[in-house]
Amino acid sequence: MTASNASSQTLANDTLEAPAGDTVYTAVIPGLDDTDLKRYSLRSPASGDVIAEISDCGVAQARLAADNAQRGFEAWRKVSPFERAALLKAWHRAVIDAKELLALTMTREMGKPIKEARGEVDYAAGFLEWYAEQAKRIDGDILPSQHPDKRLSVLRQPVGPVLAITPWNFPAAMITRKVAPGLAAGCSVIVKPAEQTPITAILLARLWQQVGGPAEAFQVITAERPAEVSDLLMDDARIRKVTFTGSTPVGKHLYAKSAATMKRMSLELGGHAPFLVFDDADIDSAVAEVMASKFRNGGQTCVCANRIYVQRAIFDTFAERLAAAVDDLVVGEPESESTQVGPLVSQAGRDKAQSHIDDALASGAKRLTREHDVEGFFVAPTVLSGVTAGMRVMQEETFGPVAPLIVFDDEDEAVRQANDTPFGLAAYLWTRNLGRATRVSEALDYGIVGVNDGGPSTPQAPFGGVKDSGLGREGGRYGIDEYLDTKFVSTRLDR
Ligand code: SIN
Repeated sequence: MTASNASSQTLANDTLEAPAGDTVYTAVIPGLDDTDLKRYSLRSPASGDVIAEISDCGVAQARLAADNAQRGFEAWRKVSPFERAALLKAWHRAVIDAKELLALTMTREMGKPIKEARGEVDYAAGFLEWYAEQAKRIDGDILPSQHPDKRLSVLRQPVGPVLAITPWNFPAAMITRKVAPGLAAGCSVIVKPAEQTPITAILLARLWQQVGGPAEAFQVITAERPAEVSDLLMDDARIRKVTFTGSTPVGKHLYAKSAATMKRMSLELGGHAPFLVFDDADIDSAVAEVMASKFRNGGQTCVCANRIYVQRAIFDTFAERLAAAVDDLVVGEPESESTQVGPLVSQAGRDKAQSHIDDALASGAKRLTREHDVEGFFVAPTVLSGVTAGMRVMQEETFGPVAPLIVFDDEDEAVRQANDTPFGLAAYLWTRNLGRATRVSEALDYGIVGVNDGGPSTPQAPFGGVKDSGLGREGGRYGIDEYLDTKFVSTRLDR
């Protein structure tokens, strides 16, 4: 792919209309004076062109956001759950109505193919709808008492102002998955989006305000080098909860830092998902789901199949069919309707994925797919066989379109290899044997298991991992618990 044939159109600033040429996007923080605020340039990963200028916030803006969030919390927690639900519902409608703008924005910011970007808007909106409904279901308990003059009750109350640090790979859905339950619970939320994808976050906040959502309840602070902003907010005792999606090293750093102010933490960190294909599997459907899981977002998802284990009897057939399907993928400019795999988000992302291919080939693996004439941040979708445990592709999360195939002989060996990693986010298995499906899904040390299902993520289900993949769950009725404290009230009557 070349830079020259990618679109360099700029993105709109102050409207929710289609791109109009004004390139400045300002952080969404009530009271922000952006006259002297620095800006950073946002570049398209497909073309390398500057597509917008973004507020580069620092400690002063972070402090302002925290002050707002505290005030916003005091007001928002008093809004009835029914009114919160109605606002979330209206926001859901507004996001769906702005689907094309949001999808195009994500495509330009981080290179997600446009068709997938539209799917992400639906996924993102799904969390708004789900938590609009859940807002009305935050109930408590009445406990029995051994004393006739005592009443024991349990309330669930919002934890307080929240900091949500969100990633670039799902610029909309990872925001709504955090902000919707936070707002539904009665918390205020400051989002610090990834520096690569600030515009989607800004547009979401504008839509929130457009439907009448209070500005201090949901703010967006943008920064090119986010450590300054994050450090200040991590140290601020008024921020009672942090929810983070990103790398395991950064998650561990935040977790250690949170101890000083005893914040509640949710951490959705790295994955290294195994995909086990047993010899009784329907090979064509297993190939189709590996394609969907591995090449979704160019392999830039925490849950994508990263190690594909195939039982010996079907290995050659599976490898041949998977390689043929991968060779048919359309690699190209992300705004094109036919593109299935776009560029990776950055030079560093491209270099890591490419180095996994190069390291495996240099150590004896075999490439089963054709080579592409790629430039810039593009990486050719690649299937590798002859992969062994010591190769980098087997040790680290690739976050790119690389599918390593490993042969196994029996169920115990497959489970042992699948679990042989510090990560534990998602795992997949393919079989038509019900007993095996049950045994293996129970034995896998992962937070999410797909049984004959390569795409289990959905707003109503819990999403999250074990071990180095993180803490807590997002999504479903479990996701809102992360934003609620439990208060016990013991009342003695007639005193
Ligand atoms: C992620 O990669 O972090 C999210 C993927 C998903 O929600 O399916």
